[in-house]
Amino acid sequence: MAFTPWYKEMAVYHIWPRSFCDGNGDGIGDLWGVLSKLDYIKSLNVDAIWFSPLYPSPNADYGYDISDYTDINPEYGNMEVFRQVLDGAHERGLRVFMDLVINHSSDEHPWFKESRKSRDNPYHNYYYWRPGRRGGIKGRKLLPPNNWTSLFEGGAWEYDSNLDEFYLHLFAKKQPDLNLDNPAVREEVKNILRFWLDMGVDGFREDVITFISKAPGLPDAYPKLPAANGLKYYSNLPAVHDYLKEFKRDVFSRYDCFVVGESPMTSADTALRYVSEGPDQVLDEMIAFSHMEADCLFTEMLPRPFDLVRMKRAFTDWQLKLEGRGWNALYIENHDHPRIISRYGSEKYRVESGKMLAAMYILQRGTPFIYQGQEIGMTNIALPELGMYKDVATFNLARIASRFLPQGKLLKLIQKATRENARTPVQWNDGPNAGFSTGRPWFSVNSNYREINVAAAEADPDSILNFYRRLLAFRRDNPVVLYGSYREHFPKDKNFYVYERNYRGRRLLVICSFTSEQLRFNAPDEIDLTKWEMVLSNYSICFTIGNGFTCRPYEMRVYSNE
Ligand code: GLC
Ligand code: CA
Repeated sequence: MAFTPWYKEMAVYHIWPRSFCDGNGDGIGDLWGVLSKLDYIKSLNVDAIWFSPLYPSPNADYGYDISDYTDINPEYGNMEVFRQVLDGAHERGLRVFMDLVINHSSDEHPWFKESRKSRDNPYHNYYYWRPGRRGGIKGRKLLPPNNWTSLFEGGAWEYDSNLDEFYLHLFAKKQPDLNLDNPAVREEVKNILRFWLDMGVDGFREDVITFISKAPGLPDAYPKLPAANGLKYYSNLPAVHDYLKEFKRDVFSRYDCFVVGESPMTSADTALRYVSEGPDQVLDEMIAFSHMEADCLFTEMLPRPFDLVRMKRAFTDWQLKLEGRGWNALYIENHDHPRIISRYGSEKYRVESGKMLAAMYILQRGTPFIYQGQEIGMTNIALPELGMYKDVATFNLARIASRFLPQGKLLKLIQKATRENARTPVQWNDGPNAGFSTGRPWFSVNSNYREINVAAAEADPDSILNFYRRLLAFRRDNPVVLYGSYREHFPKDKNFYVYERNYRGRRLLVICSFTSEQLRFNAPDEIDLTKWEMVLSNYSICFTIGNGFTCRPYEMRVYSNE
């Protein structure tokens, strides 16, 4: 883990390699493409890159199903070009973080292939293999070992007739859960960590790390139900902390690296177990989900109307609980969520809402993560047919939603809710395939690329892109943004998100409108806006009238008392 808290001041750019930039013309993003964009990434005023998985993978979950932890997927390059990317990033002062997916591997990983050969194979216990149970009339039916459902594909168990046993998969069938409760598997993980750290990698984002221990005996979740979510038996079990502590003791304590854990369905209180500063700290930060559920229900991402109050409550909860104790990871987009402008902002007011959303989260206390394409305000795509989608999680969503929606409405729901919205190729220019590839892109390019692309944004001083650059510089240069305390105003307001940062007498008031309506904003009584200075905004001409102003669609202003 980090020897000093340098990660507190950094900002991270997140690359999902398949759709970032294709360097060799085969239609698939790769490391040669990344190499050609390092100067662009540096120009954003970020300090690090996190790569979604680059390892060999059969792509059942596009890299999150790994078949070799210590190599590079030939689709993305090889070790040599990876080293060039690493060196090129380091030369520019950018750190590089890898994705570590150890809750599960691919079923094509040699460990799993071995494990299914026989019950006494040395690798058998690397996974959760269990005999089935007898059920049904006269016990004629072979039932899975328990009633857990998977997050991606029906039941959580898959039968293997050769062994006459089932294996556990919390995600897709091709993602068998690794048995981290087996110390031998933890040793393998440590070796993987050392391999990349010794090469010079600067840290890891640990995929669904809160799931890596399962309750002894793998009990039924709600025993009366034939199928149920087993979350309470595999999420945030006490042993997770023990294992992370072991990784810290044996590996991370020896490297000045950054470790952030992904933690779905984890509260801020629970997160404190892992990120509270002190001897028991095992992660530098955690990736929260609660603020991403303001318009959908995790885990299936089933949409519900956007509720600003819900979103604010989530942000504020994490901000306050971690204040003085731990550090936040801040994000509003990644490869698992639809584009934020289409969700919490407005495609009609794309530029205004894109900038507002950027300021809204980047000015909070924590390390901001910016996902590829977010910085130019990319939006959702609406593919005309279900068959054009490619992701196992999309198919799962369609399967679940088809139980209560007619076919016609199903497509609309998928278009809105699928995480593939974030997986369209990055739009670099208005040329063929948006400049992403000279070949045929592996996935549909959003047809709005003629208007929304990096080249156009570079040419426009008022673009979302240039706003991100200024915003990140502002954050870097102002200790009040980096270290100030956080306090929310008007938490029940349904249109405005207003919060204050305060550091040694320097105060910032951040005002964000989440509506296309014009609405009067009045500052809190104890603040006299006429004496404060406006330091950031997303409209060019701004007046203050009385102790407030008429707020335009998705307007954002930041005032400073100095
Ligand atoms: C994480 C990843 C997601 C993946 C899942 C299973 O949530 O971010 O993309 O599908 O884990 O590995
Ligand atoms: Ca390629």
